[in-house]
Amino acid sequence: MPTTPTTAKAQPADIRRNSEARTARESATALRADTGRNPTCPHGHFNQEGMEFVVTNPKTPRPYDNFLWNDAIFSNVQQTGVGYCDYQVGGNEAIQLLTGVGRICDFDVFGRDHLMSRLFYIRDRESGEFWNVNGEPVWRKMDSFECRHGLGYSIITSVTNDVEASLRIFVPPGSDPVELWTLTLTNRSARSRRLSVFGYNQFQFKFKWGFDSYGDMIFRSSLFSKEHNAVVATKHPHRRPHDHLTGFLTADAPIVAFDGTRDAFVGLYNTLQNPEALIRGYCSNTPGSADATIAAAQFDIVLQPGESKEINLILGATDSEADIGALRKKYLGCFGEAFADLRSSKAEMVRNNQVCTPDVHFDELLNVWIKQATSFGATWCRWGWNGYRDIVQHGYGVVTFAPQRTRAILIEALHHQFSSGLALRGWNPVDEKPYSDSALWLVFTLISYLKETGDFALLDEVVPFYDGGSATVRQHIDQALDFLEHNKGTHGLNLIKYGDWNDSLTAVGREGRGESVWLSEAYAEAMRQMAELAQHQNDKARLENYLGRYEKIRDAINQSAWDGEWFMRCYDDHGEPVGSHRNQQAQIFIESQAWALISEVADEDRIERILNSCDEMLLTDLGYSLLSPTFPEQDDRIGRISCMEPGIAENGTIYSHTNVWMILGLLKAGRTDKAYDILQRIMPGFYSGKEGDPKLDCLPYAISNCYFGPDHRNNRFQQEFTWITGSVAWFNNVLLQHLLGARAEFGGLRIDPRIPSHWQECTVQRKYRGSTYHITIRNPQGLQTSKIDLKLDGRPVVGNLLPLPQKPGQYTVEAVLVP
Ligand code: GLC
Repeated sequence: MPTTPTTAKAQPADIRRNSEARTARESATALRADTGRNPTCPHGHFNQEGMEFVVTNPKTPRPYDNFLWNDAIFSNVQQTGVGYCDYQVGGNEAIQLLTGVGRICDFDVFGRDHLMSRLFYIRDRESGEFWNVNGEPVWRKMDSFECRHGLGYSIITSVTNDVEASLRIFVPPGSDPVELWTLTLTNRSARSRRLSVFGYNQFQFKFKWGFDSYGDMIFRSSLFSKEHNAVVATKHPHRRPHDHLTGFLTADAPIVAFDGTRDAFVGLYNTLQNPEALIRGYCSNTPGSADATIAAAQFDIVLQPGESKEINLILGATDSEADIGALRKKYLGCFGEAFADLRSSKAEMVRNNQVCTPDVHFDELLNVWIKQATSFGATWCRWGWNGYRDIVQHGYGVVTFAPQRTRAILIEALHHQFSSGLALRGWNPVDEKPYSDSALWLVFTLISYLKETGDFALLDEVVPFYDGGSATVRQHIDQALDFLEHNKGTHGLNLIKYGDWNDSLTAVGREGRGESVWLSEAYAEAMRQMAELAQHQNDKARLENYLGRYEKIRDAINQSAWDGEWFMRCYDDHGEPVGSHRNQQAQIFIESQAWALISEVADEDRIERILNSCDEMLLTDLGYSLLSPTFPEQDDRIGRISCMEPGIAENGTIYSHTNVWMILGLLKAGRTDKAYDILQRIMPGFYSGKEGDPKLDCLPYAISNCYFGPDHRNNRFQQEFTWITGSVAWFNNVLLQHLLGARAEFGGLRIDPRIPSHWQECTVQRKYRGSTYHITIRNPQGLQTSKIDLKLDGRPVVGNLLPLPQKPGQYTVEAVLVP
């Protein structure tokens, strides 16, 4: 047996017994009302409505970050305001960075210095003392600090030297590549204050995904535009994919001096902790040319005791300097309206599908933050890179509250499918590596979209293929499934080719013969879902075809992929197993266990064995590790995954995606309490109550792609890639549609709750086909069951399917769990 990261079963602090549940919620709410604090996170707390997370420690153990975005820009804002911002205008190929070195993967390598933008320095002109509104990088003692991360905005408030500062950063809805900043300063002392304010931003102008022209620095300049009261920085190479290479920082208050080059502002041998401009007290009006391009803008103000003053600034990108005027005109003087628009669009998002359970934190995540994160993914996917499977899953993620976005994603993805049925791995930039799974994801997203909306006309819409020709949506899907059906190996399992969901298994099928157990299970599940559609449409031929294919692949999996106590992961090109007790490394992978449950290919005996094996070999306090044991060194048979550091990414982290799949599998298998246990382990903000709980350092409002695994050299359980995770798409659906069980189906709304047995009561407000269902679920006997007595508007319903609403309306639903 491998050395495994098994730990004792957690006893989550929040588990409450039946009769206490409601009271517990009330007292939790009361506690929050009293103190305004989540009692358990040492670095901050949610506000009363759960719509903001208030970070109270400027030096959190890892960055507590937020994402702000619209259709042209996305900005990463950490608790001190620093971070990065990328933009992509229209259908242009390249993404560029306006501030900071932007990919999370990169800034771990380049370090924090590269994120120092959105800085505000305040200098007392009497004493010469200076500090940052942000806290960093000067780190002068602050009398108070807080950062409120909200949906699409962050507000940092700090008091230093009796000057209170509030910096609000947000990205307005729409498609202008701008960030809007408002700095408000208040004099909290009894004397008049003469202050200089310096805003600082570094421009990167890097093409994100490869394109770059000869040189970089030699094409850069920056200057002050009197006409626009702006520091304007430009990169003007002879070759470029588009013109948006002008960055600017402008304000409604006069910029009294500027610097366009870092050396002039900071000084060659100084740092941002002690910039020469701050030491001497003024910017030097030096334009930039072929150097580190910045915008430093100085404002001078006087504040009487108690007086406040506000400066509004725009950081943005344009085609040319001339366009800055239009953006100034559009936004200066109207920040309030733009902010109100943002707030109301987010409030509308949050209003969809509100749940109220005994677990306040469950509600905060599902009602607010999971929606926000999956919306981000459905717009910007992987930092602006559109991977096929990733964006298609995010389309699934938003289906319950933004189905029009799901539809748009489906159509866009279908444009990137080959007529053979395979699809691109990614577009913008194009990645043609033949991952077998890409097009399969279309099925799950399409079926859930049809169930949610009833928009069957989509099936007949004609969409071009990537390599020419066109076909209806239904034919596209048929092609995808036929491709998989006809690309199987000697064990009757689907060929993996360059990889599947686990895109780091790059060598297993390099020669074209390797087979994937996970893909076969996902294919099986796709067949079942397609069969449901065929049944709904009374299409007997298709129904039989799909069911026949399901049985064939189910049998192949059970015959050839069962390892004795769990399912293997693959056969390589030479027919050798991967993810088997016969291997030295990676004897077990979680994803082929989870999908054995989801696709219901495993019988009850195998389910039991799988669960025992997973608990024994993979379970940690924070959920299941992806595999065990980790690869210590390169294995040419397996590929990229084996070169990763142990405990990093696919090589043995605790992956959120695979854990939420396991939760779904457990719910389907009727293990509701076990499902909830895994949920509390994997989700941030649920604490074990154990000393040294690593989650205390994690962001409680943002699910991450994974936690570093138990084998990581120095940072076990650190969150890796907060916000950037396909798991949020599944969390939204699994929790709402499967755990709370308010599930859209072709024939109506299924009420199939699989709640933990200690929840005595919970409510769900579910929007479905233009109506709102007010659902109350009761479990007076504390059962782990899916059997219910159901009433619709007071009248008993036979079974658990509410028929399609005849007309849009408000419906009351009561469900009582029974033995
Ligand atoms: C990353 C990729 C995603 C892949 C996952 C597992 O999150 O973006 O496409 O499925 O890793 O390999």
